[in-house]
Amino acid sequence: METILVTGGAGFIGANFVLKARQQKWAETINLDKLTYAGNLQTLAELGGDPDYHFVQGDIGNAELVTYLLKKYQPQAIVNFAAESHVDRSIASPDEFIQTNVVGTFQLLEASRFYWQSLSPQKREEFRFLHVSTDEVYGSLDSADPAFTEQTPYAPNSPYAASKAAADHLVRAYHHTYGLPTLTTNCSNNYGPYQFPEKLIPLTILNALEGKPLPIYGDGQNVRDWLYVEDHCDAIYLVLLQGQVGQTYNIGGESERANLEVVETICEIVDRLAPKPNFRHSSLITFIKDRPGHDRRYAINCHKLKQELGWQPKENFQTGLQKTVEWYLSHSEWVDRVRTGAYKDWIEQNYSGR
Ligand code: NAD
Ligand code: DAU
Repeated sequence: METILVTGGAGFIGANFVLKARQQKWAETINLDKLTYAGNLQTLAELGGDPDYHFVQGDIGNAELVTYLLKKYQPQAIVNFAAESHVDRSIASPDEFIQTNVVGTFQLLEASRFYWQSLSPQKREEFRFLHVSTDEVYGSLDSADPAFTEQTPYAPNSPYAASKAAADHLVRAYHHTYGLPTLTTNCSNNYGPYQFPEKLIPLTILNALEGKPLPIYGDGQNVRDWLYVEDHCDAIYLVLLQGQVGQTYNIGGESERANLEVVETICEIVDRLAPKPNFRHSSLITFIKDRPGHDRRYAINCHKLKQELGWQPKENFQTGLQKTVEWYLSHSEWVDRVRTGAYKDWIEQNYSGR
């Protein structure tokens, strides 16, 4: 693959993907990102002098801009990470989730369809549109239920999950109706370097380091299936190269943990790496009012990806979490810059009334 257009490549997973794409010379990379509160060009600073990396600030919903970029760079693939991604924000104000995740994906699909139809037969054959989605589209599991497979019916519960489900359906329809060579990946919870500290793991690490309360929603027994972000990026690249057109692939870490256990494990790592005399960071754990409609459990069955494409994650939860805490400890400049006024406003809005 010579050239790829990545959307949302200044966010957490997209930036990890773009960095890998350039470090490992996967392809010339164009990064289209609107730079919302979650987009951060500081993460990509090391690519400043790279002639095969191009950043464009813009909206995936701007079909004119996307059409211009497709004509100019003639990519063999589009990887769509761009989204509003935080469930709590989708509960507080869902509008942007519909605009970007649904309407934005629709406009991106339209521009991609016209571009793809203009290509030569061989280039049409080679082209791929990979849509990055989430396990949240499948809804919530009880403790004894089997993990989500690609056949699990969609049952999204939050505005975020519903907007991602709508986008997945549009991607499916564009393959079925127009023949656009699409691929969809549905992944479980990611963690690792460069994650915006509104999400559970980076929020807990940074609050623990600062001696602030560690907020746990409800009883702390909601379960998530955790995957180190680089393993997710490798899986996406593998699906891009070898996935069967029109198919969906589940990606997961097979690392189910209750939230309380996640937070306690982070506290143990911080106790070791940044000890304070006669102090256990777990004493900061604070149970607060639950998230409305909080899904109880997610778990991914990624048998298809492993069997058909030979994917294996490199990190387990313990090694990945240790690396992640070390990363946040050694990147205080990045952390200080993302925790601006807008970040403080969100923390105040989400936690003060609970
Ligand atoms: P993020 O919130 O960290 O980053 C999203 C990026 O998209 C930001 O850089 C933002 O500026 C950009 N963006 C937002 N709206 C845009 C628009 N209209 N046009 C162009 N750019 C726009 O998100 P993330 O955690 O990196 O997630 C990336 C993708 O992976 C999302 O589609 C998300 O649904 C999916 N996903 C995330 C996880 C996870 O655990 N974080 C798990 C599975 C799937
Ligand atoms: O499952 C994949 C999804 O994982 C992605 O699609 C989303 O983009 C991503 O944000 C993530 O969603 P979650 O809602 O699971 O992630 P979050 O980090 O917000 O929360 C993880 C769990 O921790 C969840 O059960 C809610 C809980 N939680 C979260 C926060 C922020 C707390 O108990 N306290 C908190 O302060």
